[in-house]
Formats: sequence, structure tokens, C-alpha cells
Amino acid sequence: MTITLVGHGYVGLVSACVFADLGNTVFVIGRNEDKLLRLKSGDPIIYEPGLEELLKKNIAAGRLIFTSSYKEAIPASEIVMTGVGTPPTPTGEADLTSVLAVAEQIGQNLGNHFTVISCKSTVPVGTNRKIKEVLDRVKPAHATFEVASCPEFLREGSALNDTFRPDRIIIGSDSKEAIDLLLKLHEPIEGERVVVGLESAEIIKYASNSMLATKISFANLISFICEKTGADVEEVLDGVGLDKRIGRMFLYSGTGYGGSCFPKDVLALINTGTSMGVDMTMLKAVDDINKKAQTNFASIIQSSAPGKNIGVWGLAFKPNTDDIRFAPAINIIKILLEDGYTVTAYDPEGMDNTATVFGDRIRYAANPFEAAENKDALIIFTEWNEFKQIDLKKIKETMSSPYIFDGRNMYEPETMKQLGFTYYSIGRKNI
Ligand code: UGA
Repeated sequence: MTITLVGHGYVGLVSACVFADLGNTVFVIGRNEDKLLRLKSGDPIIYEPGLEELLKKNIAAGRLIFTSSYKEAIPASEIVMTGVGTPPTPTGEADLTSVLAVAEQIGQNLGNHFTVISCKSTVPVGTNRKIKEVLDRVKPAHATFEVASCPEFLREGSALNDTFRPDRIIIGSDSKEAIDLLLKLHEPIEGERVVVGLESAEIIKYASNSMLATKISFANLISFICEKTGADVEEVLDGVGLDKRIGRMFLYSGTGYGGSCFPKDVLALINTGTSMGVDMTMLKAVDDINKKAQTNFASIIQSSAPGKNIGVWGLAFKPNTDDIRFAPAINIIKILLEDGYTVTAYDPEGMDNTATVFGDRIRYAANPFEAAENKDALIIFTEWNEFKQIDLKKIKETMSSPYIFDGRNMYEPETMKQLGFTYYSIGRKNI
């Protein structure tokens, strides 16, 4: 099949590489010529394990074509998928400017044959019908098309595996022809097929992310209670998560969820519900608890660290990504800088992006040891593998005072005590 992906962020580029790898010819449309040049040369721009190899392999095979021309890509494609961003507006709604502008460009360039326009971006319920209206308004008279909603469930850091082996593939459309074509495209991919209406597909995406965010905020709420009672949140959540109806996944407390999805999607669903007169108290609490998980952690550092010269391990909102959007580390570092702290940070992938936020207001270390050296305290924000079995004895020897504030519960409190650290972790006894 020949298809087009509009957008080359996590969703667009990963999907394009996967569909190309399955033997399809895939056009990828972008706006920025510099970025397109980098992509054409095999540089994925974003950091995602395995993506560069897959990109290079499929460029070499001639199955991936990067272009800024809708005229080149759209008439040649049976399916056009959109994966452009829907960032939050200041009031928390999803900003549909890019999605609707792209729909207009696609519509104007539709070819003579039937085309499916499938939206992979996370868009509020009703958006695909708006896309349909735009397409109908601008399309050439002879062009025929149908719209579908195919939300994407990939996670940054494991995006390739999630796309090759998803739990489910959601296809929402009113049109049997569109559904059949999308089922054909997804044939080689594992996962349960869920064929639903447009509106259901749109809500499935928001409901899934909001449910996962709810689990995380619930875990954090329980951690607040554990901290005050001497219980250990890891023991508690192990006990809770073993109930198969609940499960342990996404039930880890910490400094809260970040990234470009959960914070924005929870707010967008609150907005959708509120605009329809639905009481969204529950999700508002999820968002509040997430903010508290961050401010509580900052307060504990402020009240317990023996000095203000601190090292930081981890800036990205989770491991295996360079993405720092809505990362708890960034929010908490801001609070600490305002309070006069000096910060030296290390992250295997996230430092370049962090430099665009803080510039030289913080220092960057070449490795985790340098970040901890001569510091009054070390703060851990991201559970990168390389921190798991690091030589903590060596770390302790070089620190001015052996204080660790661990926002991801990476170590056993008892082991840290034996090593001579004052160790603060989330929802566990402060040792
Ligand atoms: C999330 C969803 O997991 C994907 O299914 C979805 O496709 C994606 O959003 C999206 O909408 O595009 P992602 O944001 O990449 O994926 O990362 P997650 O692995 O879900 O982690 C999100 C945040 O939650 C991270 O900050 C992570 O540290 C935090 N988290 C996760 C916890 O604090 N506790 C947990 O138990 C799990």
C-alpha cells in the first residue's frame, strides 16, 4: 500500500517507520525543511531506542519518502494518517489549529481515487466530524474520501515495540470501506481489533490515558498516607496490585506523571466533560494530586537538605527518552532555583532539551559521578537503568554530605542506611 503520515513527531515518525518496515511505501509530510533534511539523512531528531536503525533501513530500501509537498504525497496515497500535535491551550483545551490546518491541505490535494483520512492524534470527541466538514468544504469535486479515528497508544521509550505489538488497534469510523482498508493495513500487526464509532474511538484514547493517570495519582495519594504512618508504599502497592482486578502496572508512586500526554489529556477530558455539564471532580483531583506529588517533594528537599548546592540525576519525564515536556524534574528544579539552589544535573539523553529551558542557570555534568561530587544532596527524578547499580559507595565518598532524595524509589532504604546515606524516598520510612 502507499500511505502518508502527516507529522514526524513520536506518533508520525514511529508509525511511518513501522508501516514502511512492513513493506508499504510511506510518505512523511513535514513543514520544516531543515528537519526534513535531517530525517532524509537518517537522523530521527527525537531519541527513541531502535528508531534510527529502522529509519535508515527503510530510507535505504526506498520505502520512506520525506517531503513538504502535499501535492506529491496525498494523491499517491490510499490512506492518509495525521499525527500532528494537539498541545494544551492556556485554559487546558486541546489546540486543534494544526489538526484542522492539515485537514485543509489534505482535502485540497485529494486525488481521483477513494482515500481514507485517519487521525492518529489525540483529539477531543467531535473533532473527526469537524475534519470531515473541512475536507468536504475544500476537496476537489471528483474526490471521494472517508474519515476514521485510529488513536495511537505507543509510549515513549518503548514506541517501536508498542507499535509492532500493541494490546489493541482501535478503528473508529462510520464507513465499512474505510474500516476494511485500515484493517488491511494493520494485518501484519498483532493485537485485538476494536472497531467502533468515531466518537467512541476518540473517547477511548482520553479515557485510557486518564485511567492510567488516575492509577498513578491514586498510588501517590496512598504514598502521602504511608509517609505519615510508617507504612511502606511499595509493600502496600505490591499487596494491592496482586489483586488481578487492579494489577501493579502504573501503580508506582513518585514525583507524579509528566510527558506530553497524561497532563494534557487529563486537562482536555476535564474540559470536554465540563463543557457538557458533567461534574469532573474526580479527574480534577487526579490533576491536583499530581501537582502535590511535585510540590511535596520540593518541600521535603527544602526542609531537609543540609545545603543548597545539589546534584540531580534524571531530567527526562521517564527513562529512554530525551523528552522533558511537563517533566516533574523541570517543575521542581524551577522551584529550587527560585529558592536560591545551585543545580548540577546529569541525564543520559535529556540535557540538550533542558538547556533550552534553563540555559546556564544550571550546570550540566558529563556523568552521574560528576553531578554528585561535592554536593550537599543528590536528587533523583528519572529511573534510568544506569543509576540502578551504580557504585553508591563511590558516590557517598565524593559528596559533601551524603543525602539522597529519591523521587523514583530506586533503592532499598535498609541498604542505603548501611551505606551511610540519609535517604529520603517516596511513601517509605525516611532513613
Ligand atoms: C502515555 C501512555 O502510556 C501511552 O499509552 C499513550 O499512547 C501516550 O501516553 C500518548 O498518549 O501518546 P507516555 O507519556 O509516553 O505514554 O509514557 P508513560 O510510560 O505512560 O509514562 C507517563 C508518566 O507517568 C511518566 O512521567 C512516568 O514516570 C509516570 N508514571 C508511570 C508514574 O509516575 N507511575 C507509574 O506507575 C507509571
